[in-house]
Amino acid sequence: MADEVDKTVAAAPAANRKKCILITSAVVIVVAVAAALGGYFGTRNKSSSSSSSSSSSGNSSSTATALPLVTGQLIGYYGQNAIANGVDIKNGTNSRVTPVADYQGSLASYCKTGYYNTINLAFLNLFGGGNNHFQITFGSSSVASYGGTYVYSGNGTQSNAAYVVQNFENLGADITTCQSLNVKIVLSLGGDKSSPYTWVTGDGVAYANLFYNVFLEGTAGPVRPFGSGVVLDGIELDIERNDDPTVWNAEMINFITTLRKLSSKTQIAKYKVVPQCYLGLIGKDASVGDVIAATGNLVNYLIVQYYNNPQCSYPFGFNFGNWTTLFPGSIILGLAGDWTSAISGGFLEPGPLQAVYDMVKSNSQFGGISVYDVSSSNPPAYSWNVSDYANPPLSTYSETLRNVLNGQIVGSGYPAQGAQENNLNLRTSCGGTWVYANSNCSLATCDASASTCPTNYQCFSFLEKTC
Ligand SMILES: *[C@@H]1O[C@H](CO)[C@@H](O)[C@H](O)[C@H]1NC(C)=O
Ligand SMILES: *[C@@H]1O[C@H](CO)[C@@H](O)[C@H](O)[C@H]1NC(C)=O
Ligand SMILES: *[C@@H]1O[C@H](CO)[C@@H](O)[C@H](O)[C@H]1NC(C)=O
Ligand SMILES: *[C@@H]1O[C@H](CO)[C@@H](O)[C@H](O)[C@H]1NC(C)=O
Ligand SMILES: *[C@@H]1O[C@H](CO)[C@@H](O)[C@H](O)[C@H]1NC(C)=O
Ligand SMILES: *[C@@H]1O[C@H](CO)[C@@H](O)[C@H](O)[C@H]1NC(C)=O
Repeated sequence: MADEVDKTVAAAPAANRKKCILITSAVVIVVAVAAALGGYFGTRNKSSSSSSSSSSSGNSSSTATALPLVTGQLIGYYGQNAIANGVDIKNGTNSRVTPVADYQGSLASYCKTGYYNTINLAFLNLFGGGNNHFQITFGSSSVASYGGTYVYSGNGTQSNAAYVVQNFENLGADITTCQSLNVKIVLSLGGDKSSPYTWVTGDGVAYANLFYNVFLEGTAGPVRPFGSGVVLDGIELDIERNDDPTVWNAEMINFITTLRKLSSKTQIAKYKVVPQCYLGLIGKDASVGDVIAATGNLVNYLIVQYYNNPQCSYPFGFNFGNWTTLFPGSIILGLAGDWTSAISGGFLEPGPLQAVYDMVKSNSQFGGISVYDVSSSNPPAYSWNVSDYANPPLSTYSETLRNVLNGQIVGSGYPAQGAQENNLNLRTSCGGTWVYANSNCSLATCDASASTCPTNYQCFSFLEKTC
């Protein structure tokens, strides 16, 4: 047993580092028009084109009847232990060893903060392929905080190590505690581009039935990973790539439609998609745009990721208004929990957070905020920001998010965003993280299309032509 504990301890940071690196590489394109917050407000003090107005609808999905709108929601991601990503604000990925004592706490401990309406368990990262198998992977510091990978091979039974089964049942007990505190627990399917999920013909209906019976109200499942009697509140789709649009779109639509039919009586399930915010030239999300158009009236809310996507994030091109034309229901702003959870930029410190909130607060489709993740936005997480790099303060960012949603003023001094600007000569610089690269004018310049930066560094871009 001790061996297994140790393996779990060792495995979690490595897996998270991998994820972290891949998140970064996945957004290289959008980093190309990254804006430097400090420089922007020093030199380009525009405040036009607020996105707060409600949309005039464009497409059929916009006119579909939405599910009831929600408001003031705070959603936290749990399970990936993002605080242990190994990111050092200055030296970049693989540069910092997080003390195990600072890793994510128990699920119940986050529910007890009172900040969250929902916690998303991240991720059921493997499914699909026609044989009903799936795998759930959680990072952690120890067996006691639910590390491990639960595998179901699709053959009617499971054969996980005893400690894995126990971990997941312990998590199930915390799920019940959370629900008794009115915190909903949702399982997130998918994850970043590197997660091994797929959709083949038949998977949509098959997995809707399987997950309904394994995680939701259904009781005819072959396994019950979180324990018998533990019923989750919903399923989220976090699909960040689309390998075969003809098949994948049809199967995702089948999945959502089938799941909604199965739980139409109880209306317990929530279905969400977490697209990147980039709409590009095609006017829809590249991975799930067609799915959103076809299922807008079946999905409770969308989470749109507004970090690591500087092209469509504050202070330029923040595109909440565009999303209101693509989806009729509630839209949640997906934010990062600290700078190291948003290597490529987009973490909203309190001042910018207030400015963004003020842009959307009176839009009826603004449903709230999600934070990735609970470990990087709650003590003992530290705010590894540039100004206090050597001695970071404890992060209470989730509390800040709850406060702003409650209408408290959490910051000031930042205007509504400027319009997106294109075709600029971008300044580039090698750095460990975007925020650090933005802060230090002595760093080497680089070619964004080539790997010309030192190990653990990346080439970041900034709108300011001069430092
Ligand atoms: C709008 O709806 C039409 C018809 O349903 C569809 O063909 C088109 O792709 C949709 N456009 C977007 C941007 O989703
Ligand atoms: C970051 O790099 C500097 C040298 O530039 C080094 O002194 C420092 O120890 C490094 N920090 C970490 C956490 O690796
Ligand atoms: C199901 O698959 C697992 C993993 O491959 C295997 O260990 C187990 O023996 C199989 N069970 C049955 C009943 O075939
Ligand atoms: C987003 O909205 C802006 C402002 O309404 C509009 O000019 C732009 O064309 C929209 N972009 C897309 C991709 O829909
Ligand atoms: C960054 O550090 C400075 C200096 O300690 C502090 O004033 C600021 O609030 C910090 N920012 C965050 C987001 O923690
Ligand atoms: C800025 O970058 C230069 C070049 O790498 C380095 O020597 C210097 O220490 C950095 N300054 C800060 C404040 O990190």
